[in-house]
Amino acid sequence: MSKISPKDKARTKVRPYSAYYRRETPAEDAELTHTDAGTPLGEYMRRFWQPVCLSSQLTDVPHRIRIMGEELVAFRDKSGDIGVVQRHCCHRGAGLEFAIIQKHGIRCCYHGFHFACDGTIIEVPGEADKGEKLRQSVSQGAYPAFERDGLVFAYMGPPETKPAFPNYDAFVKYGDTRLVPYTNVYDCNWLQVMDNIADQMHTCFLHNNMTQEGVEAPMLSLNPTFTKTPVMDYAEVRDGTAMMFIAGRRVDDTKVWIRMNDLIVPNITEHAYLYEDGRERRLFHRVHMARWYVPIDDTHCIIFGWRMFGDAIDPFRQGDESKCGANNIDFLDGQVNNRSFAEAQRAPGDWEAAVSQRPIAIHALENPMQGDIGVYLYRRILRNAIRGKTAAARPERMHERAGKDLPTHCYSSNTVLEIARRASVVEDEEMIRRLGRDVLAAVASGDKHVGEKRNQEVRRSLAALEDKYRLQPERAANAPAKKAPAKKAPARAAAAQRGGRRSARPVSGGR
Ligand code: FES
Ligand SMILES: [Fe+2]
Repeated sequence: MSKISPKDKARTKVRPYSAYYRRETPAEDAELTHTDAGTPLGEYMRRFWQPVCLSSQLTDVPHRIRIMGEELVAFRDKSGDIGVVQRHCCHRGAGLEFAIIQKHGIRCCYHGFHFACDGTIIEVPGEADKGEKLRQSVSQGAYPAFERDGLVFAYMGPPETKPAFPNYDAFVKYGDTRLVPYTNVYDCNWLQVMDNIADQMHTCFLHNNMTQEGVEAPMLSLNPTFTKTPVMDYAEVRDGTAMMFIAGRRVDDTKVWIRMNDLIVPNITEHAYLYEDGRERRLFHRVHMARWYVPIDDTHCIIFGWRMFGDAIDPFRQGDESKCGANNIDFLDGQVNNRSFAEAQRAPGDWEAAVSQRPIAIHALENPMQGDIGVYLYRRILRNAIRGKTAAARPERMHERAGKDLPTHCYSSNTVLEIARRASVVEDEEMIRRLGRDVLAAVASGDKHVGEKRNQEVRRSLAALEDKYRLQPERAANAPAKKAPAKKAPARAAAAQRGGRRSARPVSGGR
């Protein structure tokens, strides 16, 4: 390839037929994408409980899994205890997926070493002392594990720093809510699947009849209000440990819908109800899905999640619990690789978009637009957390509240307020942007309370906000027109990618 100067290289980006100059593939961003043992992100992620399989996958035989590049075996012994151990037997390496499940622990098929769930040796049948001596010097590598609502969690960090399980309010069942576990496997790096949530803008393109002409794919699109281009905003919350995206949509002349989702370091997202259409007034309607993006290795990942079902969370009765399970989910086609390539090519979904970004997406080749601000902001929040630059994101701080048995509130929610359309599109969008920030502040103000009291207080604040905005249409209409921020946004996104200036105002609050 001819050598070209950086200046000429920049020019080649806009010239016609530029492929010849653009054949290099730079390295991936290893700091945010590599999670094998010993990598900065891998060690950070290992300081958090991670889901590793479904309870339903623990049967009469051990279940082989791969998490962050580590070969493991999970099992439930006959007394009901959960074990997650290294796959290769510490004796001479036989795979413990062939082990026999015991009342307590498992027995390797090759020479019968019997291991407890914590990896210690219970018995070595071939030894005269039945392993009494051997157990003083060796054990099978194991990780602490437990199951909850159909998901099996393991703690793969140093055992002395094992934290309490996080007490996110979204994990609490209220009323008739049921937490239904599921997985979705992606053949690509974990971060691009998480990026797909920070990139909320894709919902109005990929999930809006993005099919080849003549192809009908109703299960590929969201409802018509959802697919309206939102006024997007983003904010760091809870002292830089999470990012909110705030999507504001004008539903009709009298209603505005604010949808907010949490992305929490290192790899959790909490999702507001997906079937909201904004037609009815609604205050602080909560989470219908929580999920973890767990690396299998650097080029494969698995979403583990809880889908929430019940009348309170699903007023439109759109969920289908029977479709949630191993590599399956009940909304939108294209979440897993279960269609032919020909079908997927004509009606692509999230799976096709994320996986086709390369096994590991190359950030250095991206050309950001305004709608990408959330992607770069979340990456920066994550990078700062890995580097230990954000005090509140240090694992011991992240686990502090759970250790004291206190809840950590997330802010994911849908709110539909009765607020009249402003005089012009620009004024209306500016109002919706301000309103989105105010809705987030109102939700965060509920941190002073817990449980139903918090819900009541947040709803009261949102109703007050509705009154405030409802009474201001004339004032807003008469305000001098301001420039829309659209033109500056790509530069802001690029700055966020570089880790430079902050692209969104942080919102503080208790957790
Ligand atoms: S390899 Fe497992 S007992 Fe020998
Ligand atoms: Fe999507």
